[in-house]
Amino acid sequence: MKNLHYKSTITTLAIAGLILFIHACGSKTTTPESVPAPEANVVIDTKAHSDSKGVGKFTDVKLEAIDPSKADLGKAVFATKCTTCHKLTADKFVGPGLMGITSRRTPEWILNMITDPEKMMKVDPVAKKLYEEILTPMANQNISETEALNILEYLRQNDSK
Ligand code: HEC
Repeated sequence: MKNLHYKSTITTLAIAGLILFIHACGSKTTTPESVPAPEANVVIDTKAHSDSKGVGKFTDVKLEAIDPSKADLGKAVFATKCTTCHKLTADKFVGPGLMGITSRRTPEWILNMITDPEKMMKVDPVAKKLYEEILTPMANQNISETEALNILEYLRQNDSK
């Protein structure tokens, strides 16, 4: 009886050892995969130029010469829906100052940010980083595609001065 007990203890230890051994081998092969890929560590400078088009309705926008009448329409929308949080200078208000925005970001990115900021903050790395820095979400102002394009004309005009 005693002997049998002894044997089963040995067996248990042997199995435990084997499991540990397999586990150790297993974790050896999985470790490199758990190390984040280098691109995940890239530091995003939100003040620098980004080629990202962002995510949303706008995927391919061709710019033409600035249309002053569209810029005027954009100015009016901007005055009621954007000036509560943004200045047209480089100075931060609630959100970043928008001077130079049209050289910092692609037209698609700007239009996607204006029309669907929630999605941008969730998915786009630059918008996410801006939110992490400022900790205030950009509000969705229910801007139509046409209004967004007019605002873009206004921002381009502001940057061309
Ligand atoms: C409630 C405040 C608020 C309103 C209203 C608002 N925004 Fe924003 N906006 C922000 C904040 C805050 C950010 C920075 C990103 C973030 O935290 O989500 C931002 C980011 C942006 C950016 C990106 C800036 C950069 O440096 O890349 C653009 C472009 C922008 N907003 C344009 C607009 C326009 C155009 C309107 C009006 C239709 C508008 N915003 C209305 C708060 C606001």
